[in-house]
Amino acid sequence: MWQFRLWDVQDVAVFLSITLYICQLASAISIYSPQRSLTRSVQEDVLFSVDVTCTGTPTVQWTFMSGAVSRFIGTWQLGGPANITLDYSSRVQNYSNGSMGLSDLRLQDAGFYVITVTEETGSSKDAGFVLKVNEVLYEDLQYLSVAGVALAGLAGLLALIMWLVDKAYWKIKEWRCRKEMPVNDDTELHPL
Ligand SMILES: *[C@@H]1O[C@H](CO)[C@@H](O)[C@H](O)[C@H]1NC(C)=O
Ligand SMILES: *[C@@H]1O[C@H](CO)[C@@H](O)[C@H](O)[C@H]1NC(C)=O
Repeated sequence: MWQFRLWDVQDVAVFLSITLYICQLASAISIYSPQRSLTRSVQEDVLFSVDVTCTGTPTVQWTFMSGAVSRFIGTWQLGGPANITLDYSSRVQNYSNGSMGLSDLRLQDAGFYVITVTEETGSSKDAGFVLKVNEVLYEDLQYLSVAGVALAGLAGLLALIMWLVDKAYWKIKEWRCRKEMPVNDDTELHPL
C-alpha cells in the first residue's frame, strides 16, 4: 500500500515536470543570435545582435557582468523608448529587435552581457554574450605619436637655445667691439 502511494508521488512529479516543460515551450520566447562570443578592439563598436520573437510585446533588459560585478545597463519594451543608465547613455544604442549596440569600447567593457526577455505574462528567458576587448596597436601608435611630439618639442627647444646662444655670442662680440671702438676713435680724433 505504501509502495503504491510512493509510485503515485513519482508519477505526479514526472507529470509536473512535463507540464512545466510544456509551459516553458508555450511561453514561446525565442532569442536568436548569430554570434554569442565577440572580440573587438578598444574604441571599436560592438552590436550584440539578437532577434527576439515572442507573443505580445516583451521587455528586454541588458546587464553587464564581470567577475563579481553586475551592472544594469538598460531596459526597453520592443519598439518603445529605452531606459539606459547614465553610465551608458552616451554609448548604448537600443534596437527594436532587442539588440544592443555599444560604441567606443574600453578595456573594462570586456565581460559577460546578459539579455533578459520578459513577457507581459511574467515568464522570462535570458541569453548571454561574451565580449573580449583587445588593447590594440592603435594605442601604441598613440603613445608613439605622443613621444614623437615630445621629441619634436625638445628638438625645437634645443634649436631655440642654440639660436639664443649664437645671438648672445654675436651681441657680446658686438658689445666688445663697441667698447674698443671709442678708444680707437679717440686715438684717431686727437690728431684732428
Ligand atoms: C537586429 O536589428 C539590427 C538593426 O536593425 C540589425 O543590425 C541586426 O542584424 C538585427 N539582428 C538580428 C539577429 O536580426
Ligand atoms: C529606469 O530603470 C531603473 C532601473 O530599473 C529604474 O530605477 C528607473 O526608475 C527607470 N527610469 C525610468 C524613467 O523609467
